[in-house]
Amino acid sequence: MSAVESLSAVEFYRHSVTESDIQEVTAVLRSVFLTTGPKSAAFEKAFAEYLGVEDVVSVSSCTSALFLSLAALDITAGDEVITTPLTFIATSNAVLHAGATPVFVDVEPDTGNIDVALVKGAINERTKAVIPVHLYGLMADVRTLAETCADAGIDMIEDAAHAAEPIRDGFRPGQKGTAACFSFYATKNLTCGEGGAIATNRRELGERLRRLRQHGMSKGAAERYTSRYQHWDMVELGYKANLSDINAALLVGQLPRLEAQLARREAIARRYEEAFAAIDGISYPIVPAGMRSARHLFTIWVPPQHRDTSLSMLQDKGIGVAVNYRAVHLLSYYRERFGFEPGSFPNAERIGASTITLPLYPSMTEQQVETVIKAVGEVAATW
Ligand SMILES: Cc1ncc(COP(=O)(O)O)c(C=O)c1O
Repeated sequence: MSAVESLSAVEFYRHSVTESDIQEVTAVLRSVFLTTGPKSAAFEKAFAEYLGVEDVVSVSSCTSALFLSLAALDITAGDEVITTPLTFIATSNAVLHAGATPVFVDVEPDTGNIDVALVKGAINERTKAVIPVHLYGLMADVRTLAETCADAGIDMIEDAAHAAEPIRDGFRPGQKGTAACFSFYATKNLTCGEGGAIATNRRELGERLRRLRQHGMSKGAAERYTSRYQHWDMVELGYKANLSDINAALLVGQLPRLEAQLARREAIARRYEEAFAAIDGISYPIVPAGMRSARHLFTIWVPPQHRDTSLSMLQDKGIGVAVNYRAVHLLSYYRERFGFEPGSFPNAERIGASTITLPLYPSMTEQQVETVIKAVGEVAATW
């Protein structure tokens, strides 16, 4: 057994799936209908109500949600999409898969979110959309961005992979953007292993997204097979990115627990903030007063020259860690294809070089939280 396995004091993440969630899944498995059907529809309705939006379309991942949103807005070769380099590669990769070009702008130094003041200057006649990422669960400034987008006649697609729960200026993801894309990946606050959704207030966009997630077919499987057989048509060239009822069943029961879990996440995050404010050399992204973050990830910023050794030392102490994220434009593919060099987006690069994500999930015990704090303090003492 390696040191990491034997000392696993605090895992990076543990999901909150309960026995009743598992029973929801087994009920689907005992039924006839396993693919996109009544459970997916029930989840879509419940999630739309939770977010306060007109429509939700469930899909196979946030990556496919982003891609389908771009496709549904006819964003393609020759178009530009403005986004942040401080994100998971899925955000800008979706733009590339659509055939368009991602145009990065730098992030705010204190939150890591896209600096909306820089967006206007990056808009030109080729720009078709902006994708803000609600990093770590804190919404980007969607009110200002929506105004900028309206002035320029372009769309906002929110990358809300970290952000089912937040509220900013009274708005939730999906309410200001043309579409908001969610992830139900294994470590997300709301998870079914792999899955995603798109929220929108535009009914006709929701209808197109439903077609695009299923080959451009005029009828989904539920319509085709749950009553008498009906012919279907293919009305446009679509993709295969629907969510199965097996996955949706896991989400239905978790949704009502999100608010209580957020309270626990908030309490842990505040304890971390209090403890780390007292340690020299450590800072962390702020959650400005009055804003509700999903508290999806808690990251600390440490001196860049000590980041990688600190990651290693924390793991030796049995603390699960991650890095969210090293700046996308400095990854090999982006450097080689677009010629980015260090210095292009200094805030994103600085955060990317200094960030360490710590465990944060509702089932963490007080003792585990204190174990993480102690381990970080011991590591910081060696700098
Ligand atoms: C910011 C961000 N966007 C997009 C994604 C892609 O989500 P998925 O894995 O559901 O495709 C992730 C996944 O971690 C993410 O963190």
